[in-house]
Amino acid sequence: MSEPALKRQKRVLSGVQPSGSLTIGNYVGALKQWAREQYNFESFFCVVDLHAVTVPYNPAELREKTREVAALYLACGIDPAVSTVFVQSHVPAHSELAWLLNCITPLGWLYRMTQFKDKAARQQADSVGTGLLDYPVLMAADILLYQADAVPVGDDQRQHLELTRDIAQRFNHLFGETFTIPEAMIPPAGARIKGLDNPLVKMSKSLTESEYHAVYLLDPPDRIKKKIMRAVTDSGREICFSDDPEKAGVNNLLEIYEAFTDQPRDAIEAHFAQARGYGDLKKEVAEVVIAALQPIQQRYRELTSEKGFIDELLAQGAERASAVAEATLRRARENMGFLMPPG
Ligand code: TRP
Repeated sequence: MSEPALKRQKRVLSGVQPSGSLTIGNYVGALKQWAREQYNFESFFCVVDLHAVTVPYNPAELREKTREVAALYLACGIDPAVSTVFVQSHVPAHSELAWLLNCITPLGWLYRMTQFKDKAARQQADSVGTGLLDYPVLMAADILLYQADAVPVGDDQRQHLELTRDIAQRFNHLFGETFTIPEAMIPPAGARIKGLDNPLVKMSKSLTESEYHAVYLLDPPDRIKKKIMRAVTDSGREICFSDDPEKAGVNNLLEIYEAFTDQPRDAIEAHFAQARGYGDLKKEVAEVVIAALQPIQQRYRELTSEKGFIDELLAQGAERASAVAEATLRRARENMGFLMPPG
Protein backbone atom coordinates (compact mmCIF):
# COMPACT_ATOMS: atom_id res chain seq x y z
CA MET A 1 0.00 0.00 0.00
CA SER A 2 1.24 3.50 -0.72
CA GLU A 3 1.79 6.12 1.97
CA PRO A 4 -0.94 8.68 2.62
CA ALA A 5 -0.26 11.53 0.23
CA LEU A 6 -0.14 14.23 2.89
CA LYS A 7 2.51 12.65 5.08
CA ARG A 8 5.77 14.47 4.52
CA GLN A 9 8.62 12.17 3.59
CA LYS A 10 11.47 12.27 6.07
CA ARG A 11 14.33 14.44 4.92
CA VAL A 12 17.93 13.44 4.64
CA LEU A 13 20.96 15.64 4.03
CA SER A 14 24.57 14.64 3.66
CA GLY A 15 27.75 15.80 2.00
CA VAL A 16 31.32 14.97 1.12
CA GLN A 17 34.20 17.42 0.94
CA PRO A 18 35.85 17.87 -2.46
CA SER A 19 39.27 17.40 -0.87
CA GLY A 20 41.05 14.61 -2.70
CA SER A 21 39.63 11.79 -4.79
CA LEU A 22 36.72 9.67 -3.62
CA THR A 23 37.66 6.17 -2.49
CA ILE A 24 35.90 2.82 -2.27
CA GLY A 25 35.48 3.76 1.41
CA ASN A 26 33.33 6.75 0.40
CA TYR A 27 31.39 4.51 -1.95
CA VAL A 28 30.64 1.73 0.52
CA GLY A 29 30.20 3.96 3.58
CA ALA A 30 28.25 6.77 1.92
CA LEU A 31 27.37 6.98 -1.78
CA LYS A 32 26.09 3.42 -2.16
CA GLN A 33 23.83 3.83 0.86
CA TRP A 34 22.62 7.26 -0.24
CA ALA A 35 21.70 5.88 -3.65
CA ARG A 36 19.81 3.00 -2.09
CA GLU A 37 17.98 5.15 0.46
CA GLN A 38 17.12 8.07 -1.82
CA TYR A 39 13.71 6.57 -2.63
CA ASN A 40 12.77 6.34 1.06
CA PHE A 41 13.57 9.96 1.91
CA GLU A 42 13.45 13.41 0.42
CA SER A 43 17.19 13.68 -0.10
CA PHE A 44 19.68 16.54 -0.36
CA PHE A 45 23.27 15.71 -1.22
CA CYS A 46 25.79 18.50 -1.35
CA VAL A 47 29.44 18.84 -2.22
CA VAL A 48 30.70 20.74 0.81
CA ASP A 49 33.28 23.00 -0.79
CA LEU A 50 33.14 25.61 1.99
CA HIS A 51 34.37 22.94 4.37
CA ALA A 52 37.24 22.01 2.06
CA VAL A 53 38.84 25.45 2.47
CA THR A 54 39.27 25.11 6.24
CA VAL A 55 42.73 23.58 5.72
CA PRO A 56 45.40 24.60 3.20
CA TYR A 57 44.30 23.71 -0.36
CA ASN A 58 44.89 24.48 -4.02
CA PRO A 59 42.19 26.63 -5.74
CA ALA A 60 42.42 25.01 -9.20
CA GLU A 61 42.20 21.58 -7.62
CA LEU A 62 39.20 22.60 -5.51
CA ARG A 63 37.26 23.58 -8.62
CA GLU A 64 38.16 20.38 -10.44
CA LYS A 65 37.36 18.14 -7.47
CA THR A 66 34.05 19.87 -6.81
CA ARG A 67 32.82 18.92 -10.26
CA GLU A 68 34.36 15.45 -10.02
CA VAL A 69 32.70 14.66 -6.69
CA ALA A 70 29.32 15.83 -8.00
CA ALA A 71 29.68 13.67 -11.12
CA LEU A 72 30.64 10.71 -8.96
CA TYR A 73 27.49 11.14 -6.85
CA LEU A 74 25.50 10.64 -10.04
CA ALA A 75 27.73 7.90 -11.42
CA CYS A 76 27.21 5.95 -8.17
CA GLY A 77 23.46 6.01 -8.68
CA ILE A 78 22.16 9.19 -7.12
CA ASP A 79 19.41 10.29 -9.45
CA PRO A 80 19.14 14.08 -9.80
CA ALA A 81 15.47 13.66 -10.69
CA VAL A 82 14.88 12.05 -7.28
CA SER A 83 17.48 13.73 -5.04
CA THR A 84 18.68 17.32 -4.93
CA VAL A 85 22.39 17.41 -5.76
CA PHE A 86 24.17 20.74 -5.31
CA VAL A 87 27.31 22.58 -4.32
CA GLN A 88 27.26 24.12 -0.85
CA SER A 89 28.78 27.47 -1.91
CA HIS A 90 26.11 27.88 -4.60
CA VAL A 91 23.54 28.35 -1.84
CA PRO A 92 24.67 31.40 0.16
CA ALA A 93 22.17 30.61 2.92
CA HIS A 94 24.73 28.11 4.27
CA SER A 95 27.26 30.83 5.04
CA GLU A 96 24.64 33.17 6.35
CA LEU A 97 23.03 30.71 8.73
CA ALA A 98 26.49 29.67 9.91
CA TRP A 99 27.05 33.28 11.03
CA LEU A 100 23.77 33.39 12.89
CA LEU A 101 24.50 30.08 14.61
CA ASN A 102 28.04 31.25 15.47
CA CYS A 103 26.56 33.90 17.69
CA ILE A 104 24.76 31.36 19.88
CA THR A 105 27.48 28.68 19.92
CA PRO A 106 29.75 28.79 22.97
CA LEU A 107 33.44 28.64 22.06
CA GLY A 108 33.94 25.87 24.60
CA TRP A 109 31.72 23.55 22.56
CA LEU A 110 34.00 24.00 19.56
CA TYR A 111 37.29 23.60 21.41
CA ARG A 112 36.04 20.22 22.61
CA MET A 113 35.66 18.76 19.09
CA THR A 114 38.15 15.93 18.64
CA GLN A 115 38.38 16.46 14.88
CA PHE A 116 39.41 20.08 15.44
CA LYS A 117 42.06 19.00 17.91
CA ASP A 118 43.38 16.34 15.48
CA LYS A 119 43.42 18.58 12.43
CA ALA A 120 44.85 21.56 14.32
CA ALA A 121 47.64 19.36 15.68
CA ARG A 122 48.68 18.54 12.11
CA GLN A 123 49.31 22.22 11.33
CA GLN A 124 51.60 24.97 12.62
CA ALA A 125 49.74 26.37 15.62
CA ASP A 126 49.89 29.93 14.26
CA SER A 127 48.45 28.94 10.86
CA VAL A 128 45.29 27.17 12.07
CA GLY A 129 42.41 29.10 10.52
CA THR A 130 39.37 30.29 12.44
CA GLY A 131 37.30 28.37 9.89
CA LEU A 132 38.72 25.08 11.11
CA LEU A 133 37.37 25.76 14.60
CA ASP A 134 34.10 26.96 13.14
CA TYR A 135 33.72 23.98 10.75
CA PRO A 136 31.05 22.18 12.83
CA VAL A 137 28.87 25.30 12.98
CA LEU A 138 28.83 25.45 9.19
CA MET A 139 27.97 21.76 9.18
CA ALA A 140 25.10 22.47 11.58
CA ALA A 141 23.89 25.16 9.17
CA ASP A 142 24.01 22.66 6.26
CA ILE A 143 21.78 20.27 8.15
CA LEU A 144 19.38 22.66 9.88
CA LEU A 145 18.62 24.72 6.75
CA TYR A 146 16.90 21.68 5.25
CA GLN A 147 15.11 20.67 8.47
CA ALA A 148 16.76 17.27 7.97
CA ASP A 149 15.35 14.44 10.09
CA ALA A 150 18.29 12.14 9.45
CA VAL A 151 21.93 12.64 8.52
CA PRO A 152 23.91 9.71 7.11
CA VAL A 153 27.49 10.20 8.30
CA GLY A 154 30.49 8.11 9.24
CA ASP A 155 31.25 7.29 12.84
CA ASP A 156 33.86 10.07 12.88
CA GLN A 157 31.12 12.67 12.46
CA ARG A 158 29.02 11.55 15.44
CA GLN A 159 30.34 14.33 17.65
CA HIS A 160 29.55 16.97 15.02
CA LEU A 161 26.00 15.64 14.80
CA GLU A 162 25.60 15.89 18.58
CA LEU A 163 26.82 19.48 18.39
CA THR A 164 24.30 20.20 15.63
CA ARG A 165 21.53 18.93 17.88
CA ASP A 166 22.80 21.05 20.79
CA ILE A 167 22.92 24.16 18.61
CA ALA A 168 19.43 23.53 17.24
CA GLN A 169 18.02 22.99 20.72
CA ARG A 170 19.67 26.12 22.04
CA PHE A 171 18.34 28.18 19.14
CA ASN A 172 14.81 26.80 19.52
CA HIS A 173 14.98 27.51 23.25
CA LEU A 174 16.22 31.08 22.83
CA PHE A 175 14.12 32.13 19.84
CA GLY A 176 11.24 29.66 19.51
CA GLU A 177 10.72 26.52 17.42
CA THR A 178 12.75 27.00 14.27
CA PHE A 179 14.77 23.86 13.53
CA THR A 180 14.10 20.12 13.35
CA ILE A 181 16.41 18.19 15.67
CA PRO A 182 18.25 15.71 13.38
CA GLU A 183 19.29 12.13 14.07
CA ALA A 184 22.57 10.58 12.94
CA MET A 185 22.36 7.59 10.59
CA ILE A 186 25.59 5.67 11.10
CA PRO A 187 26.27 2.89 8.55
CA PRO A 188 26.89 -0.67 9.81
CA ALA A 189 30.39 -1.68 10.89
CA GLY A 190 31.11 -3.60 7.68
CA ALA A 191 30.65 -0.36 5.77
CA ARG A 192 33.84 1.11 7.25
CA ILE A 193 36.70 0.28 4.98
CA LYS A 194 40.23 0.67 6.36
CA GLY A 195 43.48 1.72 4.70
CA LEU A 196 45.14 -1.00 2.61
CA ASP A 197 48.57 0.05 3.88
CA ASN A 198 47.35 0.40 7.47
CA PRO A 199 44.18 -1.55 8.27
CA LEU A 200 43.93 0.08 11.69
CA VAL A 201 42.90 3.49 10.28
CA LYS A 202 39.89 4.47 8.21
CA MET A 203 40.53 4.62 4.45
CA SER A 204 40.91 8.33 3.73
CA LYS A 205 40.77 10.34 0.53
CA SER A 206 43.12 12.94 1.91
CA LEU A 207 45.96 10.75 3.22
CA THR A 208 48.16 10.81 0.17
CA GLU A 209 51.58 9.97 1.60
CA SER A 210 51.32 6.34 0.51
CA GLU A 211 50.32 5.35 -2.99
CA TYR A 212 48.96 2.11 -1.59
CA HIS A 213 46.61 3.48 1.04
CA ALA A 214 43.32 3.78 -0.89
CA VAL A 215 41.56 2.56 -4.01
CA TYR A 216 40.03 5.55 -5.77
CA LEU A 217 36.75 5.23 -7.63
CA LEU A 218 38.42 6.42 -10.82
CA ASP A 219 41.51 4.21 -10.58
CA PRO A 220 42.12 2.08 -13.71
CA PRO A 221 41.83 -1.71 -13.22
CA ASP A 222 45.58 -2.41 -13.23
CA ARG A 223 46.16 0.15 -10.48
CA ILE A 224 43.32 -1.27 -8.39
CA LYS A 225 44.82 -4.72 -8.72
CA LYS A 226 48.30 -3.53 -7.82
CA LYS A 227 47.06 -1.72 -4.72
CA ILE A 228 45.00 -4.63 -3.44
CA MET A 229 47.77 -7.16 -4.12
CA ARG A 230 50.04 -4.99 -1.93
CA ALA A 231 47.56 -4.73 0.96
CA VAL A 232 49.06 -5.34 4.38
CA THR A 233 48.09 -8.71 5.89
CA ASP A 234 49.73 -10.96 8.51
CA SER A 235 52.05 -13.94 8.43
CA GLY A 236 49.27 -16.50 8.99
CA ARG A 237 47.01 -18.07 6.37
CA GLU A 238 43.57 -18.19 7.95
CA ILE A 239 40.92 -16.36 5.93
CA CYS A 240 38.10 -15.41 8.30
CA PHE A 241 36.36 -12.33 9.66
CA SER A 242 38.01 -11.31 12.91
CA ASP A 243 38.25 -8.45 15.46
CA ASP A 244 41.83 -9.34 16.28
CA PRO A 245 44.02 -6.32 15.37
CA GLU A 246 46.64 -8.81 14.11
CA LYS A 247 44.13 -9.94 11.47
CA ALA A 248 42.88 -6.46 10.63
CA GLY A 249 44.32 -6.58 7.10
CA VAL A 250 42.63 -9.84 6.15
CA ASN A 251 39.43 -8.77 7.88
CA ASN A 252 39.45 -5.53 5.86
CA LEU A 253 39.87 -7.44 2.58
CA LEU A 254 36.97 -9.69 3.54
CA GLU A 255 34.83 -6.69 4.44
CA ILE A 256 35.61 -5.14 1.07
CA TYR A 257 34.59 -8.40 -0.58
CA GLU A 258 31.42 -8.46 1.53
CA ALA A 259 30.52 -4.85 0.66
CA PHE A 260 31.02 -5.42 -3.06
CA THR A 261 29.27 -8.79 -3.33
CA ASP A 262 26.55 -8.45 -0.66
CA GLN A 263 27.11 -12.10 0.31
CA PRO A 264 26.64 -13.35 3.88
CA ARG A 265 29.79 -13.78 5.94
CA ASP A 266 29.58 -17.53 6.38
CA ALA A 267 29.24 -17.99 2.62
CA ILE A 268 32.30 -15.80 2.09
CA GLU A 269 34.36 -17.73 4.63
CA ALA A 270 33.25 -21.04 3.08
CA HIS A 271 34.19 -19.70 -0.35
CA PHE A 272 37.72 -18.89 0.78
CA ALA A 273 38.21 -22.03 2.86
CA GLN A 274 39.92 -23.71 -0.11
CA ALA A 275 42.09 -20.73 -1.01
CA ARG A 276 45.78 -21.47 -1.08
CA GLY A 277 46.72 -18.25 0.67
CA TYR A 278 46.19 -14.53 0.91
CA GLY A 279 47.25 -14.12 -2.71
CA ASP A 280 44.07 -15.89 -3.84
CA LEU A 281 41.95 -13.73 -1.55
CA LYS A 282 43.51 -10.52 -2.84
CA LYS A 283 43.06 -11.57 -6.45
CA GLU A 284 39.36 -12.19 -5.95
CA VAL A 285 38.85 -8.99 -3.97
CA ALA A 286 40.52 -7.07 -6.79
CA GLU A 287 38.25 -8.77 -9.32
CA VAL A 288 35.00 -7.88 -7.54
CA VAL A 289 36.11 -4.29 -6.95
CA ILE A 290 37.17 -3.82 -10.57
CA ALA A 291 33.90 -5.34 -11.82
CA ALA A 292 31.79 -3.13 -9.54
CA LEU A 293 33.64 0.07 -10.44
CA GLN A 294 33.58 -0.58 -14.17
CA PRO A 295 29.97 0.63 -14.73
CA ILE A 296 30.51 3.57 -12.35
CA GLN A 297 33.57 4.68 -14.30
CA GLN A 298 31.74 4.21 -17.57
CA ARG A 299 28.87 6.36 -16.36
CA TYR A 300 31.31 8.95 -15.02
CA ARG A 301 32.92 9.22 -18.46
CA GLU A 302 29.52 9.66 -20.08
CA LEU A 303 28.42 12.32 -17.61
CA THR A 304 31.59 14.34 -17.97
CA SER A 305 32.07 13.95 -21.72
CA GLU A 306 29.49 16.60 -22.49
CA LYS A 307 30.98 19.88 -21.41
CA GLY A 308 28.74 21.87 -19.10
CA PHE A 309 26.32 19.03 -18.38
CA ILE A 310 27.27 18.58 -14.72
CA ASP A 311 27.42 22.35 -14.17
CA GLU A 312 23.91 22.67 -15.56
CA LEU A 313 22.59 19.94 -13.26
CA LEU A 314 24.31 21.61 -10.32
CA ALA A 315 22.67 24.93 -11.19
CA GLN A 316 19.26 23.24 -11.12
CA GLY A 317 20.13 21.51 -7.86
CA ALA A 318 21.18 24.80 -6.28
CA GLU A 319 17.90 26.36 -7.30
CA ARG A 320 15.89 23.59 -5.66
CA ALA A 321 18.06 23.62 -2.55
CA SER A 322 17.84 27.42 -2.28
CA ALA A 323 14.07 27.39 -2.19
CA VAL A 324 14.12 25.17 0.91
CA ALA A 325 17.14 26.82 2.53
CA GLU A 326 15.90 30.38 2.04
CA ALA A 327 12.60 29.61 3.72
CA THR A 328 14.38 28.30 6.83
CA LEU A 329 16.88 31.13 6.84
CA ARG A 330 14.10 33.68 6.67
CA ARG A 331 12.37 32.10 9.64
CA ALA A 332 15.61 32.03 11.61
CA ARG A 333 16.31 35.70 10.91
CA GLU A 334 12.81 36.68 11.79
CA ASN A 335 12.85 34.72 15.04
CA MET A 336 16.20 36.26 15.98
CA GLY A 337 14.69 39.71 15.74
CA PHE A 338 16.18 41.03 12.53
CA LEU A 339 14.17 43.73 10.79
CA MET A 340 12.91 41.96 7.70
CA PRO A 341 13.06 43.72 4.34
CA PRO A 342 9.63 44.08 2.74
CA GLY A 343 8.48 41.26 0.43
N1 TRP B 1 32.01 16.94 7.97
C1 TRP B 1 31.55 15.94 7.04
C2 TRP B 1 32.66 14.95 6.74
O1 TRP B 1 33.80 15.32 6.69
C3 TRP B 1 31.08 16.58 5.75
C4 TRP B 1 29.87 17.42 5.95
C5 TRP B 1 29.78 18.77 5.91
C6 TRP B 1 28.57 16.93 6.20
N2 TRP B 1 28.50 19.16 6.10
C7 TRP B 1 27.73 18.07 6.29
C8 TRP B 1 28.04 15.64 6.36
C9 TRP B 1 26.38 17.93 6.57
C10 TRP B 1 26.68 15.52 6.63
C11 TRP B 1 25.86 16.66 6.73
O2 TRP B 1 32.36 13.80 6.51
